[in-house]
Amino acid sequence: MEAVTNESSQRLLDRRNAEFWNELCGTGLAQAIGITDASRESLRHFDDAYFGMYPYLMDYVTPHSLDGKKLLEIGLGYGTLGQRLAERGADYHGLDIAPGPVMMMRYRLEQLGRPPNVLEGSALDMPYEPESFDYVYSIGCLHHTGNLRKAIEEVCRILKPGGRAIVMLYNRHSFRQFMRVTLPRWRERLKGRHKATQAEEVRALYDTNSTGDVAPHTDYVTPREVRRLFADFSRVNIDIQNFDAFYLPYRIMFIPREKCLNNIGRVLGLDLYITATKHRAS
Ligand SMILES: C[S@@+](CC[C@H](N)C(=O)[O-])C[C@H]1O[C@@H](n2cnc3c(N)ncnc32)[C@H](O)[C@@H]1O
Repeated sequence: MEAVTNESSQRLLDRRNAEFWNELCGTGLAQAIGITDASRESLRHFDDAYFGMYPYLMDYVTPHSLDGKKLLEIGLGYGTLGQRLAERGADYHGLDIAPGPVMMMRYRLEQLGRPPNVLEGSALDMPYEPESFDYVYSIGCLHHTGNLRKAIEEVCRILKPGGRAIVMLYNRHSFRQFMRVTLPRWRERLKGRHKATQAEEVRALYDTNSTGDVAPHTDYVTPREVRRLFADFSRVNIDIQNFDAFYLPYRIMFIPREKCLNNIGRVLGLDLYITATKHRAS
């Protein structure tokens, strides 16, 4: 986990993030299923494919109505989860550093007849008063900000006492990290070479856009680091989810991703789903 400490480097990273993520995260999936427009039907088709890929995601959305609950989503991508949350009746607000996801989310909210409360801004300096929200959702975003600790402090600041954060961060203790980062590093060492795996090569395993550019910054955390980062919260729960398809040794058999989600994926999966409650004032 590496924090950007210098103010001008952070401004530069914010600019690069705004540029990179302006292409909606999920564009690869949209292209793969032949979506070329943003009609209601196309978005529904996209959302079905998205929830098909991440079938566990709705487990992190309360099954009860969110009527009257003020909720912020940070890092909006294609807007699939945001639409579901708004449909549950929440007083939905969204924040993203890039204009593309902001426009997509506003468009979806307008289609639902809901106020388009979506702002362009950074998770590191959120334009909201302290103790404003009952829920904060952030799936796959805060590890791109360059300062995970600050981002989680911001989440804590804007949550009401007793409010809940639902955050997904990349797992540093995943099978992917072991096979693609740790093991190659050990092999190189055994051969007496010390070629460090380039940070960009590792980031490329996670987030690239349709022209192959790599996300400007990504952090990977262990469950133990998560507990430290969320020390100001109570009832911190960490679930491990998501997995890559893979071949068994000597390519004797291909194991599809879906077969791994409910077993090895829950132990060595790619993503950490953290649910945490902000302490009530004592
Ligand atoms: C990997 S996408 C995830 C999108 C969506 N949550 C999903 O799961 O599909 C990351 C999102 O975080 C946003 N983002 C990146 N850095 C950010 C920052 N510093 N502040 C706010 N949003 C940021 C990007 O613009 C992008 O929409």
